[in-house]
Amino acid sequence: MAAVCSMEDFLKQCEQSGDAAYGAFRSVLERLEDPTTRAQARIFLSALQKRFGNEEASEKCLEKFHFRIEDIVLDQYEGYQKRKKLTMMVIPSIFIPEDWSFTFYEGLNRNPDSIFKDKTVAELGCGNGWITIAIAAKWLPSKVYGLDINPRAVKISWINLYMNALDEEGLPIHDEEGKTLLDRVEFHESDLLAYCRDRNIKLERIVGCIPQILNPNPDAMSKLITENASEEFLHSLSNYCALQGFVEDQFGLGLIARAVEEGIAVIQPMGIMIFNMGGRPGQGVCRRLFERRGVRVTKLWQTKILQAADTDISALVEIEKNSPHRFEFFMGLASDQPICARTAWAYGKAGGRISHALSVYSCQLRQPNQVKTIFEFLKNGFHDVSSSLDLSFEDDSVADEKIPFLAYLASVLKETSTFPYEPPAGSRRFRSLIADFMRTYHHVPLRADS
Ligand SMILES: C[S@@+](CC[C@H](N)C(=O)[O-])C[C@H]1O[C@@H](n2cnc3c(N)ncnc32)[C@H](O)[C@@H]1O
Repeated sequence: MAAVCSMEDFLKQCEQSGDAAYGAFRSVLERLEDPTTRAQARIFLSALQKRFGNEEASEKCLEKFHFRIEDIVLDQYEGYQKRKKLTMMVIPSIFIPEDWSFTFYEGLNRNPDSIFKDKTVAELGCGNGWITIAIAAKWLPSKVYGLDINPRAVKISWINLYMNALDEEGLPIHDEEGKTLLDRVEFHESDLLAYCRDRNIKLERIVGCIPQILNPNPDAMSKLITENASEEFLHSLSNYCALQGFVEDQFGLGLIARAVEEGIAVIQPMGIMIFNMGGRPGQGVCRRLFERRGVRVTKLWQTKILQAADTDISALVEIEKNSPHRFEFFMGLASDQPICARTAWAYGKAGGRISHALSVYSCQLRQPNQVKTIFEFLKNGFHDVSSSLDLSFEDDSVADEKIPFLAYLASVLKETSTFPYEPPAGSRRFRSLIADFMRTYHHVPLRADS
């Protein structure tokens, strides 16, 4: 294929536009997928990376040729495999790793090394795939599914996978178990967990760093998501989400709420979910999203980051106009005094930089099977109940009583369509229980009269 044979032709095509560059890399991917041309295509990518070797050149390459290939240094995070770096490419129509990603990766690294070893894992919103690949390279899971709704992100992730599974000469790199990254990783186009749910894949770990701001232009989100959609629209999927029909939509957290509910359905009972949570709505709101769904959360890591310059927070200002809720921003990185979205927006407009907290939460189901039963029941049209459901209990003994009761109620209601009335005298069994209780604990000599 000409695109891979001559670097000059390849670059000429990339220079035309972002869409053209994507087209050129799709041809490279086809060659990587074919075992007979794989090594040659990998060597071509090494040559391409060398040509734009230093940081400045690679930045210019992004501007001029609409792609960038660079190394991500893993230094202290080597894990089971002693890899020092990963080589990753990006194009403008997908998410370009920045503070959000690195904080998320930092949080993942706060877990013991055994967290992903031999586990089946999914990453929601994998972008260019670097975190999925890093998980596979560092912790040797049995399989990691990197999932993203942006079709271009999925294709670039596959290129990144081949780039790291093979060395610069195009030879496979085997880990200590004799496997390559190609044995451990798959990337798929998927709206959150749809790919795994539809194939009944039982996951032990779900990790995700997905958008947490409502698109300021709601109509924009109704467009069809295909690889031929505009670059601007595809890139906007990295920062914004649409309304999802959950109460948490009001804080921009609807997509996270849906991810948690899909996760509850798909994850193994003792599984762990790890989410990157922007602290803009306030820590209380973030924790509550999980806890009211019967999920216990532990904060693995927290930092403060500058609000991404390309993300418009005016949707949050609108929410503040119509509710008493106040979002939580800070002026610069040093201030600890929170300011609301309206003030933050005005401060940003006046040239100031605003920041917000970013935390990585580890989540486990409190009473896994019961919580799964409750959600399985509620997914069939109990919208009001779902919105007001509250499975957060301060006292464990109360949770131990109420969650199984609700699960039992859900399983009974699932089987019956009528309300089972007892005769006018009331349930004899129930009366017996009361009588037993009165006799045992209060020494009142009662019987359940027939
Ligand atoms: C902030 S980026 C994170 C990318 C990557 N994990 C990283 O750290 O570099 C969020 C990603 O979520 C993806 N995304 C948005 N909505 C999604 C959905 N409904 N299902 C799956 N992925 C989604 C976007 O396309 C984007 O790649």
